[in-house]
Amino acid sequence: MVIAVDGPAAAGKGTLSRRLSGYYGLAYLDTGTLYRGVGWLMLSQGLDPRNAEDAAATARDFTLEKVADADIRTGDVGKAASVVAVQPAVRAALLDYQRNFACEGRPGARGAILDGRDIGTVVCPDATVKLFVTASDEARAERRWRELQVGDPGISLNQVLDDIRRRDARDSSRAEAPLRPAPGAHLLDTTSLSIDAAFAAACRVIDRALEDRRA
Ligand code: DC
Repeated sequence: MVIAVDGPAAAGKGTLSRRLSGYYGLAYLDTGTLYRGVGWLMLSQGLDPRNAEDAAATARDFTLEKVADADIRTGDVGKAASVVAVQPAVRAALLDYQRNFACEGRPGARGAILDGRDIGTVVCPDATVKLFVTASDEARAERRWRELQVGDPGISLNQVLDDIRRRDARDSSRAEAPLRPAPGAHLLDTTSLSIDAAFAAACRVIDRALEDRRA
């Protein structure tokens, strides 16, 4: 079983996917980590994430071990990730890793769950279940702002809202694998849902899909 979870920044994909992975016994991959890792490596080497050749070379040499101790959850790294993610050669270099993970996951797992922007459309178009998780811009900005308070208490909510809108625009308007719901994806708007309610709604969709497959 493969579950594809896509959606814009800070929609709640990660929290939901982690919980679903535990409940259904699935290996979990947050694919944003790969793009963030490439962005972080470039920034830490003084490279410009907009440079297509440097971005492609960094992505081809990328391994998760290289960023195991890096702080990739900052706003700057998120922006760099979104910038390198526009490059087709970067996406191509990261595709095999994601597909292998979807097929192999980890020993003993029942399958895999991947979250990102193009899982249902490009990485796993044959996924058992596809979810597209959204929330209003304001709700997403507030969630991300709360997370950022730990490392960057001076950042304003408006600044976070601006960053999120800019990142959404870049992720949705790029030519290669833009952010959009895959055909057959189930939309889950978490604006006014608690984590528990979002989890319950996702479980209903997944259980129904599994029953349909058995029938
Ligand atoms: O989910 P995130 O905020 O960690 O993702 C960081 C950036 O990586 C996001 O702005 C776009 C890019 N990304 C992508 O293009 N495709 C994916 N499957 C995952 C992330």
